Amino acid sequence: MQTNVLRAPHGRVQARAPCARPQRRVAVVSHATGNGTAASALGLDEPIELVDGRVTSGPDLSVEVNGMKLPNPFIIGSGPPGTNYQVMKKAFDEGWGGVICKTLSLDSSKVVNVTPRYAKIRDYSNRVFGWQNFELISDRPFDVMLAEMKRLREEYPNRMLIASIMEEYNKDAWEEIIGRCEEIKVDAFEINFSCPHGLPERRMGMAMGQDPEVLGEVCGWINKAATVPVWAKMTPNVTDISFPADVALKAGCEGVAAINTIQCISGVNLDTLRPEPSVEGYSTPGGYSWKAVKPIALAKCTSIAKLIAKDYAGQGKSLSGIGGVETGGDAAEFILLGSDTVQVCTGVMIHGYPVVKNLCGGLQKFMQKHDFKSIAEFKGKSLPYVTVHSELVKRQRDAISAKKARQGLANDAEWSGEDFVKNADSMAVNR
Ligand SMILES: Cc1cc2nc3c(=O)[nH]c(=O)nc-3n(C[C@H](O)[C@H](O)[C@H](O)COP(=O)(O)O)c2cc1C
Repeated sequence: MQTNVLRAPHGRVQARAPCARPQRRVAVVSHATGNGTAASALGLDEPIELVDGRVTSGPDLSVEVNGMKLPNPFIIGSGPPGTNYQVMKKAFDEGWGGVICKTLSLDSSKVVNVTPRYAKIRDYSNRVFGWQNFELISDRPFDVMLAEMKRLREEYPNRMLIASIMEEYNKDAWEEIIGRCEEIKVDAFEINFSCPHGLPERRMGMAMGQDPEVLGEVCGWINKAATVPVWAKMTPNVTDISFPADVALKAGCEGVAAINTIQCISGVNLDTLRPEPSVEGYSTPGGYSWKAVKPIALAKCTSIAKLIAKDYAGQGKSLSGIGGVETGGDAAEFILLGSDTVQVCTGVMIHGYPVVKNLCGGLQKFMQKHDFKSIAEFKGKSLPYVTVHSELVKRQRDAISAKKARQGLANDAEWSGEDFVKNADSMAVNR
């Protein structure tokens, strides 16, 4: 049976016995969105059956990360898909491996959203490939969200429920929010050091993630207070993401999640000459997500995975990969480059919660092709093949020299009457 996880004050992971509530069963759906459109027409993998998030046959998709056991590696990324009880419940019912709630803070009265706050960016065939948002963190009262998460915790004791939190530069506030979330037994924390809009104006979110000194100090407070694992969610809006990731890991965080959105302006309206999305004629840079950011996310995750492999080997530090995941193949790429889990946010806003069945189906298909029986068998397998450019130059130079030094004749015109036997010998494998 699965257990939830507690972290002792000194950082060691301990098992917490789950309460024995019956788990929900989910029915398989034959279409991704339930709207009658075939998965392949949407560019998705075929869906598979999941029972409490577990596959019923084929390669094992379960993962264990920082002591947490997930039935599959797909986690709802913080955002609209984790805003309240009914949507988080839907995520568990459909089979998501874990849920990270929309980022919470103690005083939601300071959070005031505007509309429109999203913009879709489409390709020539009208498919959405990029998504801008300048949505703030949760605007719901902390007590209300906490009560809803408590209910969810009680109804789904064995599923991973992670609290995304953010606070100002105030030790007491961080201690309070951590203590209150732990009272309802969240499995872990994800710290939002990365929201690129609105909150940085109050020195929160990305403003903290971009300031190594503040980041180190705040992570220190958090890790002293937390008794469950802590993931630091990093911003890609820095020169070298491995630098703040290192600060967070050094300060005791068990893992890193990346990436949050990339600062962007989706466009300018050429009739009104106003930037978009326009709110009363004005706009502000937002965060870019979805398929367009996947290559950037893969590069940022690679840089963090390399750091973990080099400086934190054997210490159980984890990486949760995020950015533009739509298919099982996308997820496989993040895992091949060192991610333990994979988060999806915009993908749920586009395809709905059942897409987890397509994601699991696609990941299994990839694993079957390579005869991988578990996620652990291929985690990080592609990582050693990302190197520095000078190494590519050296390898190419060596390969050309080796070709030139190749034994044997280039063509039949080179056979010589004098050296005939030598020529033949030069092409034998066992000379
Ligand atoms: C509308 C929207 C709201 C978001 N809100 C949050 C949030 O409250 N906290 C957070 O950590 N990330 C938030 N994110 C960022 C996502 O969790 C994720 O890091 C990012 O969008 C990249 O992943 P994706 O391409 O799967 O969406 C939000 C993203 C979107 C699109």
